[in-house]
Amino acid sequence: MSDAALRKRKTQSDTKGQARKEINAANTQRKNEADVDTAALLRYIKILWIPLVLCFGGIFFFNPSTITDIGNSWFGTDSGDSWSSNSAGIDLRYIPDVEKRDAVVEAFKHAWRAYERDAMGDDEYHAMSKKGTNLTEAGGIGYTVIDSIDTMLIMGLEEDYQRARQWVETKLSFEKDGVFNTFETTIRVLGGLLSAYHLSSNDKLYLDRAIDLADRILPVFNTNSGLPWPQVNLAQKKGVPNSDYQAVVSTAEVSTLQLEFRYLSYLTDNEEYWEKAEDVMRVIKEAKMAHGLATIYMHVETGKYIPSTIRLGSRGDSYYEYLLKQYIQTNYTEPVYKDMYDDAMEGIHRHLIQQSPNSKMIYTAELIPERTETGELNWHLSPKQDHLVCFFGGSLMLGATVAEAMVQPVSVPPKRKELTPNGIRDWVTGAALIKTCWDTHDTATGLSPEIVYFITPQDNLDPSSVSSDWYIKGAEPYAPPPYDARYILRPETVESLFIAFRLTGDIKYRNWGWSIFQAIEKHCKIETGGYASVLNVDEVPATWEDKMETFLMSETLKYLYLLFEDANVLPLDKYVFNTEAHPLPIFTPTVRTAFADS
Ligand SMILES: *[C@@H]1O[C@H](CO)[C@@H](O)[C@H](O)[C@H]1NC(C)=O
Ligand SMILES: *[C@@H]1O[C@H](CO)[C@@H](O)[C@H](O)[C@H]1NC(C)=O
Repeated sequence: MSDAALRKRKTQSDTKGQARKEINAANTQRKNEADVDTAALLRYIKILWIPLVLCFGGIFFFNPSTITDIGNSWFGTDSGDSWSSNSAGIDLRYIPDVEKRDAVVEAFKHAWRAYERDAMGDDEYHAMSKKGTNLTEAGGIGYTVIDSIDTMLIMGLEEDYQRARQWVETKLSFEKDGVFNTFETTIRVLGGLLSAYHLSSNDKLYLDRAIDLADRILPVFNTNSGLPWPQVNLAQKKGVPNSDYQAVVSTAEVSTLQLEFRYLSYLTDNEEYWEKAEDVMRVIKEAKMAHGLATIYMHVETGKYIPSTIRLGSRGDSYYEYLLKQYIQTNYTEPVYKDMYDDAMEGIHRHLIQQSPNSKMIYTAELIPERTETGELNWHLSPKQDHLVCFFGGSLMLGATVAEAMVQPVSVPPKRKELTPNGIRDWVTGAALIKTCWDTHDTATGLSPEIVYFITPQDNLDPSSVSSDWYIKGAEPYAPPPYDARYILRPETVESLFIAFRLTGDIKYRNWGWSIFQAIEKHCKIETGGYASVLNVDEVPATWEDKMETFLMSETLKYLYLLFEDANVLPLDKYVFNTEAHPLPIFTPTVRTAFADS
């Protein structure tokens, strides 16, 4: 398998080696690393889940109920509508900040036109060397072009858009005898095509390409369980297992294809797209664990969870995101997703949400299984938070207003009495998590690192000796920066800022977004065109890595643009964004009933 096929987006911090480490952490007794066969896994799952569920009672170090006390300031007052931080009472959401918005458009042009000049049609771009590369040797599949098209439509870049469209019409082909990641190809390319179709007022070119691609991906669902193979050969139309652990799939990857396949089914009346995507959710629902949480790995033959880390970061993140978004996508007609979402949010609050001891930062920890010498499984909390988790603050706030509200629509921001107790809990936690993500931008560059750790009471540190409750693990003066210290142009914090601004009208979210944008301009921008990743957010001048991730143009700059744009553009009650920031319209299914009702 090529390295390219291993490249993950939401799973960037998972190299092959790390995935292996995580599985082995739960499995230190097994000697033969490369051979996790089905029988052993089955045995393993049977033995392990009983202690696993039982031991959940005694593992955490923090009682989450205390956080509900700190959230009052995020609500609108119940009596008046003086929620706006603008004293004139003007609803700022409908006033675009034209200057800042246009600065984001300039940044997009700086990125896109460099790519177009040096690497048009190649899957990925390296702005320092002014070169493109493809994911496989079989040739490009429009990874960067298609991921960027809807942003051009949204920003009104007509000429750039026409050139990109021309490329799709004349050059794009999915007849590529190479192995591609199922999830990445779906969220970026299929999602990008579907969004382009809608935003171009149904330009059939995109729908035809989307159908062609989806039909090539569809065979991945032909497994014993219905969970898809993690990879696909697009020319051979064949699912391909992971080379290391054939039976292992990542939970977020299998559960983050649904918005795309469901919308395509809605457009084409082809039931197969819908059923294959929905079957995955049925399998996951049946695999349900007592606490409502999901481990980051599942077994492709049995459809069961595999003892492995539980977290909202890589390989876990968008499972939770798509529970809510599937509920939103079909206009709240499928209560099964709300039920699954409710269970998950309960489990997250009970087991993962933590608060740092001094500055009381709210964050999400990870639960890591470990085998003891006697072969038992212990779970321990790791106070580690991926940058990827920063999507979750906005997601919780959005969920509070749509899935946990007593009236529709709620005020902006919602009043306490408009939300259920769970809605209040989620709103408060969401706002606090966004604040935490913002606080991790307190670095030399103003950019936040890929991974942060928090101090815990168990560290027994003297509060007066601690300058901050979070740190970058392994960062030492004069030593090479650890992996954790990077900023690779990720969108998750600005995604949450966009949602929070739309739901509150609070100008501070625009201010924070502007500050992050300026840090990107200052430290990631390459004079000759394009952007680079930064190796150490605490080093100025920054050292670059020669990679411009496609999500810079599809997500980071799109969410920043929308943060400063009029809220009538892509309103949240009419659109749901896929996990790659491709907006898809909300629709009401006419004939279909949700699987839980059948
Ligand atoms: C990537 O693939 C495209 C389409 O097959 C091809 O034209 C292009 O030369 C490839 N680029 C590189 C850098 O190999
Ligand atoms: C969602 O459902 C409501 C009625 O419950 C309806 O008024 C609204 O138009 C629907 N929205 C869409 C996008 O179908």
